[in-house]
Amino acid sequence: MARPLQPIAERFPRPAVNRAKHWLGIALSYDLDALARLWGTDKASTGHAYTAPYASHLGARRWRVRSVLEIGVGGYGFTDFGGESMRMWRNYFPRAHIYGIDLEPKRIDTRQRMTILRADQSDPESLRAALAGCLPFDLIVDDGSHIGAHVITTFETLFERVALGGLYAIEDLWTSYDPHYGGGPPGIDGTGLALARTLLDDLNLRRRPIAAIHAYEQLLIVEKSGA
Ligand SMILES: C[S@@+](CC[C@H](N)C(=O)[O-])C[C@H]1O[C@@H](n2cnc3c(N)ncnc32)[C@H](O)[C@@H]1O
Repeated sequence: MARPLQPIAERFPRPAVNRAKHWLGIALSYDLDALARLWGTDKASTGHAYTAPYASHLGARRWRVRSVLEIGVGGYGFTDFGGESMRMWRNYFPRAHIYGIDLEPKRIDTRQRMTILRADQSDPESLRAALAGCLPFDLIVDDGSHIGAHVITTFETLFERVALGGLYAIEDLWTSYDPHYGGGPPGIDGTGLALARTLLDDLNLRRRPIAAIHAYEQLLIVEKSGA
């Protein structure tokens, strides 16, 4: 009698699959979109298409980036899921340590150059405590709750943690129009896009060390002034 097939997950345990993907990712490491598709993050051209703007800002400094922080590890309440974009960044920045923050506990493989911290992005003290001792970040990405008030609190707390010349990115700005995320009609306060409008004032009035603000569809990239 033929043996029944083992479930796929048992035949190919996730840590082994991830290790194989990591080695493939090293071969593809110059191509951010290929990495996003390899790891299955919606930043890929098949999803939100954030990889092209990220690559245009970060491609030339790939080997110089030493520290990256992403708010939102992924997987929500599923402890064993998430980390797709962190793994993408780890392949793309061969010399960087990748930190991820999530509200939920995570139990995913972080052996090489990855650290997951638990914090609530709506609470400045929680963010500061989690990141105590971390050096300035070359890149911070906010892909967390996307609730307007949280996006603003997180920026106000963490922009000072961006290294000189580094980048702070806010994703999924469509949430500024969605009441489930504290959004509403164009122009209302308390959203990611309201923050973007304030940052334009800050840039022109020199109220913050901002060198440039790059706006893409659903994505804002704030460039901190250099030394
Ligand atoms: C869209 S997923 C992140 C996806 C991941 N960055 C990627 O591209 O693979 C959003 C994550 O934010 C986390 N999150 C939600 N609210 C949060 C909060 N207040 N503080 C920190 N993380 C939060 C969720 O648990 C979820 O895992």
